[in-house]
Amino acid sequence: MSILFISDVDSFDSWNAVFRSKEPRARLVERAEVDDPASIEYALAWNPPDGLLAQLPRLKAIFSLGAGVDHILRDRNLPKGIPIVRAVDTNLAMRMAEYVVLHCLILSRQQRRLDEQQVKRLWVSELPVFSSDVRVGLMGLGHLGRYVAERLRDIGFQVAGWSTEHKEIPGVTSFAGEGELASFLERTDILVSLLPHTSKTHRFIGKDILRQLSHDGPLGGPAFISVGRGTVHVEDDIVEALDDGHLIAAVLDVFEREPLPLESPLWRHPKVTVTPHCAAVTDPRSIVTSVLSNIARLESGDRLENIVNVDRGY
Ligand code: NDP
Ligand code: OXD
Repeated sequence: MSILFISDVDSFDSWNAVFRSKEPRARLVERAEVDDPASIEYALAWNPPDGLLAQLPRLKAIFSLGAGVDHILRDRNLPKGIPIVRAVDTNLAMRMAEYVVLHCLILSRQQRRLDEQQVKRLWVSELPVFSSDVRVGLMGLGHLGRYVAERLRDIGFQVAGWSTEHKEIPGVTSFAGEGELASFLERTDILVSLLPHTSKTHRFIGKDILRQLSHDGPLGGPAFISVGRGTVHVEDDIVEALDDGHLIAAVLDVFEREPLPLESPLWRHPKVTVTPHCAAVTDPRSIVTSVLSNIARLESGDRLENIVNVDRGY
């Protein structure tokens, strides 16, 4: 079986080595190696060029190299009726939880102030902020959001989530839909965006959302962590909110444009932490296992797992 590997950021050699070790009959090929497009049955893709997938007449399924699929759905010539499968992986969820927990703790433990004190050789110990007094609000309670919420809850944060439909997660308050958005925001000290990019979430987190966050929490104002997609937030509005005191800090792993342009004010803003879209990086070993088992399911007539709802966009 031939699988076309398409990515401008991932290493073909690394993925190929994992495929070979797990299933010698699977042939991972690069675009330049394809003599006959009809020989390709599957694609494993990150950001495929427009129209490329439509040139594969015997394509049976498209596997995303990530949890998000906006990079595939934006193809204006995407072949219709071919299932798109996203990466759903505990490893990825663990990495994401590490990132969000790390930054919630940096914020709640006031680590930035302590770093500054060290530079000045200042010995000042203040009454700490207790995580149990800090209210974290996750936008997006899907595969990653749920896992992150549980880890934050276990550390002691007060955790709530907002999604399109209510979720049952012990110890996590669930809000859903437009009707409960205001209540979710007004109880939130640290807002975490784990929303996918869709037509509904595009530029959703702007000044209107940021201004509704709680201002009476223990951190002296609200903070924002963005790890879903950079197209979901509005960078100018984040900078404005930081400058006029509506936000105390922003931790951004995803951006409207990536790589973040050199001229972006976010790079040097004193209240901003910039990371290069590395919150949760896909581990080829676990993704290859799930791609291969999904292919086996399809080949034996079963339904694929983790199929994207194309109309919904995630
Ligand atoms: P899921 O599809 O499992 O979850 C998406 C969540 O967003 C769901 O809870 C869904 O609600 C909610 N949602 C979507 N649209 C809306 C809306 N309009 N209003 C309210 N809630 C909405 O995705 P994952 O958790 O697996 O991944 C989330 C995103 O994280 C990915 O799409 C990707 O963009 C990003 N990501 C970033 C990485 C990084 O390194 N920075 C790494 C991996 C992923 P409901 O459950 O009710 O449908
Ligand atoms: C993903 C990502 O979608 O890394 O998996 O952003």
